[in-house]
Amino acid sequence: MNNKVPGKLEGKLAVVTGASRGLGRWIAVELAGHGASVAVNFASSVADADETVRLITEAGGTAKAIRADITQESEVERLIEDSVRWFGRSVDVLVNNATGPQPMLSIEESSWQIYTDQLEFFVKAPLLLTKAVLAGMKSQGSGSIVNIGSEVAQLGNANFSSYVTAKAAMIGMTRSWANELAPYGIRVNLVAPGWIPVERHKDSDTDGYQKQVPLGHMGEPLDIAAAVSFLASQEAKFITGQCLSVNGGNTFGI
Ligand SMILES: NC(=O)c1ccc[n+]([C@@H]2O[C@H](COP(=O)([O-])OP(=O)(O)OC[C@H]3O[C@@H](n4cnc5c(N)ncnc54)[C@H](OP(=O)(O)O)[C@@H]3O)[C@@H](O)[C@H]2O)c1
Repeated sequence: MNNKVPGKLEGKLAVVTGASRGLGRWIAVELAGHGASVAVNFASSVADADETVRLITEAGGTAKAIRADITQESEVERLIEDSVRWFGRSVDVLVNNATGPQPMLSIEESSWQIYTDQLEFFVKAPLLLTKAVLAGMKSQGSGSIVNIGSEVAQLGNANFSSYVTAKAAMIGMTRSWANELAPYGIRVNLVAPGWIPVERHKDSDTDGYQKQVPLGHMGEPLDIAAAVSFLASQEAKFITGQCLSVNGGNTFGI
């Protein structure tokens, strides 16, 4: 007899962009751990994406790595088509997580192109992905979209304005989409991480940042993943248009 309790995302299909490493990997692992089948999107790191899939399948979950540049419309459409075909159902959960390089530049050093590069990841890509999953979500009368923002939208970090601007835009987009899609049973929320060290931070000194965090320590990728899986699930069925800061109390409200 199988006494396994169904996970809170059992039978759901989740697409996580940028899931080959960093926060995306652990968001994918967490969603799969709660029963979702997960499309593990990545741009170029095949071995890393395969490792995310391995972590999921070895724990008894279901996942497939799907390469797609999420800033390109045709590739986004293929990503969603392949996900739906492979797993045999519409997308239930979309996590807009992927990021490209995040340049720290003064205003003088910044060009409009530097700004649009960030908008490509944090406004254009979520828009393309949301458009691609919407028909399926509307026809099933449910869905959860989780945008990964950042505390920088509240902190306004100096010499980081292109990234800060794009992350701030995600907040307005989240709220407007939440209002527009609520009548269809589709919820849209944002998780705003503080600095969560991932592979690309391996040589960074976190001491200064950590001192200012009220809880007194750095967060871990699974702290973000837990917030995403909560918002993705029916536990959050009455929550939409919200920004959830996961940063040890480093910012309040938004
Ligand atoms: N880590 C933090 O401290 C922190 C704090 C606040 C907010 N955030 C936000 O959290 C999210 C994840 O950040 P992270 O630190 O985990 O990033 P990361 O470790 O640099 O990982 C980036 C991911 O995005 C993928 N990617 C890059 N370009 C892509 C493209 N064109 N199409 C599809 N995928 C692409 C990468 O795939 P490949 O491996 O194939 O290149 C990789 O899987 C971002 O939205 C970031 O702004 C992070």
